[in-house]
Amino acid sequence: MLLIGVIASVIGVLICLQIDWFPTEGSTQSEEIDTLYDVLLIVSVPIFVLVMTIAIYSVFAFRAKPGDKGDGAHIHGNTKLEIVWVTIPFMIVSALAIYGWVVLDDIEAKKPNELVVNVTGEQFTWSFDYPDEKVKSNELVLPVDRPVHFEIHAKDVLHSFWVPAFRMKQDAVPGITTNTRVTPNKEGTYEVVCAELCGIGHATMRQQVRVISSAEFDKWVKDRSEGGAAPEEGESPMAAGRQIFTSAGCNACHTLADANANAQVGPDLDELPDVAATREKGTSAEDYVQESIVDPDALVVKGFPAGTMPKNFADQLTPEEIDTLVQYLLGESKTEKSK
Ligand code: CUA
Repeated sequence: MLLIGVIASVIGVLICLQIDWFPTEGSTQSEEIDTLYDVLLIVSVPIFVLVMTIAIYSVFAFRAKPGDKGDGAHIHGNTKLEIVWVTIPFMIVSALAIYGWVVLDDIEAKKPNELVVNVTGEQFTWSFDYPDEKVKSNELVLPVDRPVHFEIHAKDVLHSFWVPAFRMKQDAVPGITTNTRVTPNKEGTYEVVCAELCGIGHATMRQQVRVISSAEFDKWVKDRSEGGAAPEEGESPMAAGRQIFTSAGCNACHTLADANANAQVGPDLDELPDVAATREKGTSAEDYVQESIVDPDALVVKGFPAGTMPKNFADQLTPEEIDTLVQYLLGESKTEKSK
């Protein structure tokens, strides 16, 4: 029985260590977390296998055989055995708890030269504010190899700020500020996810984090702090509009062929110029589109539930950016009319 248990444990541990449980390791924290997870597997798989081996063996070895009568001998306690089966698990669990605490203490420790990022969760979007750089963004952009201190807030209900590639996850709780630390150590684009069921649009509460070199990050900060993505001289309004459409996250929920977007959470924006034109009797197409961006519940398209689209675009975008976006969305119909 012992031999079967040992062999099965070794096979079990080897299989579990082969499985790639987690996505890319994108931060210094993720390496420590993944090692911790491997240690937990190595400790827990043999215990599971041992218990199962004894249980299955006992079912067969001590089953009622033909001619057996009654329940067998009654056994009342075994002090030695009880001390052993309390002490050993107690020591294993305590050792793992101490190891876990040491790892957590290390990865959450304050580090020099931290970049502070305020993260705000609301139904159903994340927004990011860099207080020292005086930059606001709907896209999380981080320089590689610099420790980041996230201060996390929620405007309405519980959310949970999670970047699986960084391994760190923290609740966003209305009324208090929670925080977490991460040092991204690999350039790339990863997902920001909300990990707390927060309402009808919970599954759409996904954005991107872009980890870039510190030179690119400085350039990004400089570009953002100089008036955002409003059209610069020489840049076509269409290109500027397309850029805002993507950076503000519209592509996460809407279809728009020109911007390569094909999401279906919100109305198809390829049909927008036609829809807007039919409303032109009361208000202009521009006013309708502008209102739908800053106050999305004012007039909801049939078939799409109210309260799904974030209501913070007036804070996230400058009036010029919203104007550029409106012109972009009305795109072709507008150009034709003005001819
Ligand atoms: Cu926010 Cu789920």
